Amino acid sequence: MQQEENQWGSRLGFILATIGSAVGLGNIWRFSYVAYDNGGGAFLIPYFFALLTTGIPLLILEFSFGQKMRGSATLSFAKIHKKWEWIGWWSTLVTFVLITYYSVIISWSFKYIYYAFTQAWGSNPEAFLYGTHLNLSSGIDSLGGINISILATVALVWLINLVIVYNGIEAGVEKASKIFMPILAVLMLIITVRGVTLPGAIDGINQFLEPDFSALLNPKVWLAAYGQIFFTLSVCFGVMITYGSYLPKKSDIVNNAFITSLANCGFSFIVGIGVFGIVGYMSAQTGQPINDVVAQSIGLAFIVFPKAINMLPTFQTFLGFIFFLALGIAGISSSISMVEAVVAPLMDKFGFSRKKAATIVCGAGFLGSTLFTTGAGLYFLDVIDHYNMQFGVAIIGILEAAVLGWYYKAEVLRKFFNPISNFQIGTWWDIMIKFITPLLLTIMVVKSLITEISQPYGGYPLSGLKIGWIVAGMLLVVAVILNLLPDKYDDRLLNN
Ligand code: PHE
Ligand code: NA
Repeated sequence: MQQEENQWGSRLGFILATIGSAVGLGNIWRFSYVAYDNGGGAFLIPYFFALLTTGIPLLILEFSFGQKMRGSATLSFAKIHKKWEWIGWWSTLVTFVLITYYSVIISWSFKYIYYAFTQAWGSNPEAFLYGTHLNLSSGIDSLGGINISILATVALVWLINLVIVYNGIEAGVEKASKIFMPILAVLMLIITVRGVTLPGAIDGINQFLEPDFSALLNPKVWLAAYGQIFFTLSVCFGVMITYGSYLPKKSDIVNNAFITSLANCGFSFIVGIGVFGIVGYMSAQTGQPINDVVAQSIGLAFIVFPKAINMLPTFQTFLGFIFFLALGIAGISSSISMVEAVVAPLMDKFGFSRKKAATIVCGAGFLGSTLFTTGAGLYFLDVIDHYNMQFGVAIIGILEAAVLGWYYKAEVLRKFFNPISNFQIGTWWDIMIKFITPLLLTIMVVKSLITEISQPYGGYPLSGLKIGWIVAGMLLVVAVILNLLPDKYDDRLLNN
């Protein structure tokens, strides 16, 4: 029952699609503020450490695992042994929850493209974001009404997701990536060039790159670096396993993984320089210290940027338009990869057609998104994201490395991908997968659990945090149930 239509048309297409998945909202605003928050230039040390010891090894692992098993995360784990299928489902469900709010942030970007034309945010972008745009309620316990205009824009985002994924790998995802990625590169180049050529830019960039080495002693910084690497490379979400499964049999895994990671991290770095150039300019204009300018994390894109645009000497509308368009495109090219990673398991397990699976996922996803379009939406987003990443992705990372490293055996995979790759990976890779990654991740998860108990996340009331725990716990339960349901894997389970 091998579905032949599910294959990349070309190597370039595959690479653009994986870069499209990797480069997203995470690179444009998350990286800049996470780096800045965690020691500035010194953050790059744990960041590269996490990239080399865990990020790239896991990306190689996921590409080759998918390519060898020729299936989504769930089918691939089921092929090792039926009892591991739930790990695939868990990552699939985590990804599904992620898209429900990721698509809402994309919808904000879309709305801001439109706002940019009139600079609708006026002289107080902060009040505009929380008031006019979000209609934010007083706290997580007060739901507030659904924001109809955001809901309509979210519907548009889901429609785009649906149309692209509905059309399949080559005619949908690959084609979209070939259009999106070159446009995105040009847009980001414009923003960065504008950023670094503004007066005062150099002070912002210096602040961004200036190392604070004492930060290296703080475990929180390391946790942040690992979290950022997983999120930014789209690993542990089932996405790269699924994308790997559409590779032709003899594809160079190692090279592809390096190209994807380096392109993604290079992109973050260049954008970071551009963003901090603009921040430096703002600080020079207002006399406000750079620290204060970047103080609000979530607001970096939706508050600080509009403020910066207000202050630009020329081309305000144009740059506003370019920035939010770039954010929207980067977001969509990532969200389609998430949708694909949820659609593929449904096709594998239940034998659904692509069209049926895509319609179900996008319909259900849209319903899930409505929660984040309420007055308390931003709070839910913050809390659910925290638990989804900390107690979803991080634990999935441990399980994936442990089961594939020890049970399936890292050397089995390495002996599979080395012969088809241009340059060869040594035994260091086995060590990273079997020891370093699970060990470091376990330490971090335990540490953050302890922190969680002593100080509730984000200062929210426990009644509000409950939703995070419930969602995180439910995913695991549902994953196990899905594992137990009868499947249509048939003889595909046999050829591994
Ligand atoms: N890597 C994307 C980003 O940086 C987000 C993403 C996460 C995409 C998980 C797919 C899966 O924004
Ligand atoms: Na990324």
